[in-house]
Amino acid sequence: MIQDKQALAQRIHTALEFAGQQLRSLVTAHPDFFPMYTLNGKWKHDGEAWTNWCEGFLGGQLWLLFAYTGDSWWRDKAKHYSRLIEHRKTDDSVHDLGFLFWSTWKRWHEVAPEDFIHDTLVEAGRTAGSRFREKGQYLPSFVSAESLFIDIMMNVGIIFYAARESDDQTLWQNGTRHCHTTRRYLVRGDGSSAHEGIFDVESGEFLRWSTHQGWRGDSSWARGLTWALYGFGTAYRFTSDQRFLETAEACAAYYMENTAEHGVPPNDWSEPEPGQDYESSAAAIAASAFLQLAELMPDSARAGMYQSYAFRILDTLLQPGFLAIETPAWEGILKRGMYHERKGLGVNESVMWGEYFFLEALLDALRKLDERGARASARPSC
Ligand code: GLY
Repeated sequence: MIQDKQALAQRIHTALEFAGQQLRSLVTAHPDFFPMYTLNGKWKHDGEAWTNWCEGFLGGQLWLLFAYTGDSWWRDKAKHYSRLIEHRKTDDSVHDLGFLFWSTWKRWHEVAPEDFIHDTLVEAGRTAGSRFREKGQYLPSFVSAESLFIDIMMNVGIIFYAARESDDQTLWQNGTRHCHTTRRYLVRGDGSSAHEGIFDVESGEFLRWSTHQGWRGDSSWARGLTWALYGFGTAYRFTSDQRFLETAEACAAYYMENTAEHGVPPNDWSEPEPGQDYESSAAAIAASAFLQLAELMPDSARAGMYQSYAFRILDTLLQPGFLAIETPAWEGILKRGMYHERKGLGVNESVMWGEYFFLEALLDALRKLDERGARASARPSC
């Protein structure tokens, strides 16, 4: 329970100032570079990427810093980094165009709506939707046609947006179908989620669970669950389908029941002896997702519960064990994240999506604390 909201707001301001310093250093020292995870606290290294899904998170943070400060330096950099990824709007080789464009071009459109920005968003959403498979009724992951990832729930919003803006019923239905397939096969009765579902590509039959970044197919990879918690909330915002809200709440309940008091999960809740105690990026995503969920609640008691829980997570992440503010020469903002433990990528490091959702959650929390951050909404509108 956070007793002193004013003190929390002050710590958020301090963290946002620190984030500004770190980001200014990053884009100045390494112009036009899109980092993914740090290695020993440094963004620039030759580590493998596995897949390229993170190129929107730097521009997204720059847009968030502009929203926070109103300083045109951040807006100009944010536009620049958004433009650098424009060509990805036709990239149908990955499932991640929502991650790329919702965090950047959607924020840009909200700051200064123009037709070319709108059209870019619609094109990116249509590209993402073009991956839909009738057999199995899902958007496959970048890995293969047989693979459905829980992560893809974060990329359905831009498909709904494109479908609505281009009045495309089929695209809308395909987005809806993907959510129902994910809900049915990847979210379990106890609110936990599987990372990956494997389907028979000929018949569309669901075959089994699997994972890449979690412990086992039948386990519960923390970041995957937070993608579901956030993504189903967003799907509800677009569709008003009560089942998606119920799914987001089931995931929220699982998170709260299985995470220690401080609110930061390990990489996988089921793993008996995790290599690391914390996966801070999952906590940052969860904080933002809980704040979104709070806004979707019809009753103030539930809204208050989710908001308090988000504040609890942020209270932990703002401590110097997580916030890099007292770690000399560390280039990231939030320590103790995890990308891909099995591959040894970004283990106990800062990760770009962790930074992005942390800043989003901080701004949203400030808005809820009725502070200076209220100048702009933290989360793109649907
Ligand atoms: N591929 C998205 C993630 O690592 O969460």
